Amino acid sequence: MEASPKELPVQSRYKLLTGLVVPRPIAWVSSLLADGVANLAPFSYFSIVGHAPMAISISVTGRKPDGTPKDTGQNLMPVDQGGRGEFVVNLVSEHQAEAMARTARPMPTSASEFELAGLDMAPARLVNAPRVAGALAALECKTLSVIAVGSSRLIVAEVVHLAVNDTVIDARHRIDFSKLAAIGRMAGSQYTRTTDRFELADEGYFPAAGMAR
Ligand SMILES: Cc1cc2nc3c(=O)[nH]c(=O)nc-3n(C[C@H](O)[C@H](O)[C@H](O)COP(=O)(O)O)c2cc1C
Repeated sequence: MEASPKELPVQSRYKLLTGLVVPRPIAWVSSLLADGVANLAPFSYFSIVGHAPMAISISVTGRKPDGTPKDTGQNLMPVDQGGRGEFVVNLVSEHQAEAMARTARPMPTSASEFELAGLDMAPARLVNAPRVAGALAALECKTLSVIAVGSSRLIVAEVVHLAVNDTVIDARHRIDFSKLAAIGRMAGSQYTRTTDRFELADEGYFPAAGMAR
C-alpha cells in the first residue's frame, strides 16, 4: 500500500505504526500523584535519547476513557506545571508480563495499580516515586523537558540513578539477556521475548570509538 497519514482513520494510523515499529521495549513507569498515591503503567513509546547524559523518552498519547488525562502524563510534568517531575522506569521481565498488562487498565486517579496487580513497592534512591520491588532493573529519572506533538506528550528525562540486580549484570557492565528476560510489545495483545537472538560479525564499526563522554 501507499498512503498519506492524513487520509487514514486514526485507528489505522495507530495499527500501522504499532505494527511496523516493532518490537518496542516497555517502560513500566511508577510515579507519585500530588497527593501521594503510587501510580504504575506500561509505556511502549519508549526509547533511549542519549548516554551523555543518560536520557530516555516516553510518549503519553490520548486520554483515559472518561476523557481525563492519563495519570502518568500528569505526574511526570515538571513541578511548575503541576507534576512531580520524577519517576522510575522499571524494566519488565517475562515473569511480570501479566502483572504489567493488568496495570494498563484505566483506573481512577485515587486508586493504585500496585494494589490492583498485587505488586510490592521498594523505595527509590534519588527520586520521590516507588520502584516495583521485583523488577530486575530500574532507571530513576527526572524530567528534562516535555514536547507537545499534537495530542501526544513526549517526555524527555535524565536517568539519575540505576538499579540493576546483581544476577543480571557482570563486573564489566554486560547484561545477561537470558536472565533479564525482557519482553517487548508488538501490536495489540502480542508481545515478544528477547531469548531468541543472533550475532553478526563486527564489520568495522566499534561503538566505543565514536562515543561522547
Ligand atoms: C504494553 C503496553 C504499552 C503501552 N504503551 C503506551 C504508550 O507508549 N503511551 C501511552 O500513552 N499509553 C500506552 N499504553 C496504555 C497505558 O498503559 C494506559 O493508558 C494506562 O491506563 C495509563 O495509566 P495512567 O492513567 O495510570 O497513566 C500501553 C499499554 C500497554 C499494555
